[in-house]
Amino acid sequence: MTLRTACAIANPNIAFIKYWGNRDPTLRLPSNGSISLTLGGLETQTTVTFDESLSSDHVSVDGQPASASTSERVSIHLDRIRLVAGFDIYATVESCNNFPVGAGIASSASAFAALTMAGISAAGLSLPPIELSRLARRGSGSACRSIFGGFVEWYAGDSDEDSYAESFASADHWDLQDLIVIVSQEHKGVGSTQGHVLADTSPLQSARVADAQRRLKECRRAILERDFFSLASIIELDCHLMHAVMHTSTPSLMYWYPETLQIMSAVTKWRTDGYHVCYTIDAGPNVHCICTNEHADSIEEQLRHLPGVIKILRAHPGESARVVTALK
Ligand code: DP6
Repeated sequence: MTLRTACAIANPNIAFIKYWGNRDPTLRLPSNGSISLTLGGLETQTTVTFDESLSSDHVSVDGQPASASTSERVSIHLDRIRLVAGFDIYATVESCNNFPVGAGIASSASAFAALTMAGISAAGLSLPPIELSRLARRGSGSACRSIFGGFVEWYAGDSDEDSYAESFASADHWDLQDLIVIVSQEHKGVGSTQGHVLADTSPLQSARVADAQRRLKECRRAILERDFFSLASIIELDCHLMHAVMHTSTPSLMYWYPETLQIMSAVTKWRTDGYHVCYTIDAGPNVHCICTNEHADSIEEQLRHLPGVIKILRAHPGESARVVTALK
């Protein structure tokens, strides 16, 4: 019996310029390019074992058998890996996260980045990072960014070949911190994949996409020049644009809770008072407060006093996805 196994770790990422909507949902070619920070400290560890004795794939997440929909999505991604590898062997996939999944912390990003990396390695293959990024993108769009560390841009591209991510500044370029304020740990009602399908039903999506190049350029510049207040403006604008599209889709999506708005308004006030802090929110109610390391302790302390805050996770610029020796 031949067992081929490998384990990989990937970090999630937080998008500063968001991916929302696909031009081609099957290939996951996004409507616009995006920029993110890879989040060190939060991670998904995934072990893939191709096993000739199996008659189907077996997927577990955090020690529990995965739901039917998750198992199906993982199997479809394993099929892509099997196609590259040129064999037809089923696999066991064991995935563990050290952060709550499904609450707007882009768990699918680290999940599919780690799955791609572990799967390719278990198959005995070695692919360049850009190829891994293209492959991870097919599993979950934001996963193509989690292949890389530091500050990452996903080029929308025109086809499967040129839609991939790359790092444009390393993790040590700028010591930003992400204080992820958890106001709900429930699994979100409408996941990103379903949300992307609705994007084009909003009359605001075309304006959001038309202005994307300008925002990407401004965000890149602000990061490269470590210009916090410009970064704050563009991150918040981009977040508002994506949520405006969500709010005006048919049916409309509203991910915010009252606590979400309270945190947004507190962050705005603290920035007016001179603190280096801004917010962004993904497809969930939790708020990512992006701040400089210098102000992070003080902001975290103030956040703890806001009503409805369940807990605060802290992340720092993280490294690329990597193959590791499995720790059992
Ligand atoms: C709001 O990558 O989770 O977090 O491609 O269907 O897996 P799928 O969607 P996903 O969408 C991420 C949406 C977002 C913004 C972002 O991360 O850019």
